[in-house]
Amino acid sequence: MLDQIGALKAKAQAELERITDSSGLESWRVRYLGKKSELTLILRGLAALPVDERKNVGSEANSLRALLEESFKQKEQRLRENQILSAAVGTTLDVTLPGRRPPTGHMHPITQTIQEICDIFSSMGFQIVDGPEVELEYFNFDALNIPEGHPSRDNMSSSWIDYRDDSGKRPFLLRTHNTSVSARVLATMKPPIRTVSPGKVYRYEASDATHTSMFHQIDGVAVDKHITMADLKGTLYEFSRRFFGEGRKARFRCDYFPFVEPGVEMAIECGVCRGKGCRLCSNSGYIEILGAGMTHPEVLRRAGLDPEVYQSFAFGMGIERLPMLRYGIDDIRLFYGGDLRFLRQF
Ligand code: DAH
Repeated sequence: MLDQIGALKAKAQAELERITDSSGLESWRVRYLGKKSELTLILRGLAALPVDERKNVGSEANSLRALLEESFKQKEQRLRENQILSAAVGTTLDVTLPGRRPPTGHMHPITQTIQEICDIFSSMGFQIVDGPEVELEYFNFDALNIPEGHPSRDNMSSSWIDYRDDSGKRPFLLRTHNTSVSARVLATMKPPIRTVSPGKVYRYEASDATHTSMFHQIDGVAVDKHITMADLKGTLYEFSRRFFGEGRKARFRCDYFPFVEPGVEMAIECGVCRGKGCRLCSNSGYIEILGAGMTHPEVLRRAGLDPEVYQSFAFGMGIERLPMLRYGIDDIRLFYGGDLRFLRQF
């Protein structure tokens, strides 16, 4: 009888080991611990055994029952844990597999460029300011000496906001340049002033390789006593040296903007041909990067500043052109297509 119990123990444990689901476990329980199981029959038959045998067999059979009941509980617990884990990972957990790296993004190339430009100007004492993209006609045009009917309003292809005030006029538009922020700076801050404002601007036009209806500009303005054109040139030369590198020539030529007098455009030596002339620079050897000038006395006056006391310079540049020139990107639309194969390169 003791042999029988020993064999039963070995068989029950071996079978339990192989069980992988709860229905298998349940039939194991019926087989080895159920009412009609071999073990139960042995226990029930104990009374019929002679006294000395009864003691031995009884203690072995009872401890086997305790063991099987405990093993059953443990197995049940393990099966439940596995079930939870595989529901969680969708498959059996393999803790030896390498982890999955969570995707991390990075700054958009335009944001990186804005930060780089702002770093340069803030190290020269310029404060970074912000202004509204939905702008009053006044700050976008009138404050900047661009009255109604002025031809440069037409060049700017404005997108007007569909709202009319009591007099039937539309006072709001999407700002066409960031000089509107400089106009706000002049009207609200007290000299000495040095600010740059980066941000989005909007022009109502069809997009192609060099135009999109939204793009970025950074506009700067400085106001103080005794500011001259030399301050303007020194500041912009320093910017060029820091952004494009030492030894890159910069050129100033006359240009016209209603809010500056005199007005200039600044160009830098073409990075591809180094001034010799190539397709990128249309054979001129130079590439225009910004407009600038001494702020028009009328603009200062409209902002409540006395042009006899204060002088001011201003400049404004498009941002997209800079990484395009630096990396040889030939289509501005790539910045806004959301194609990660392009964006991941920066
Ligand atoms: N706002 C001008 C544009 O969008 C660029 C510009 C020219 C800005 C001269 C200035 C400036 O601040 O002084 O074309």
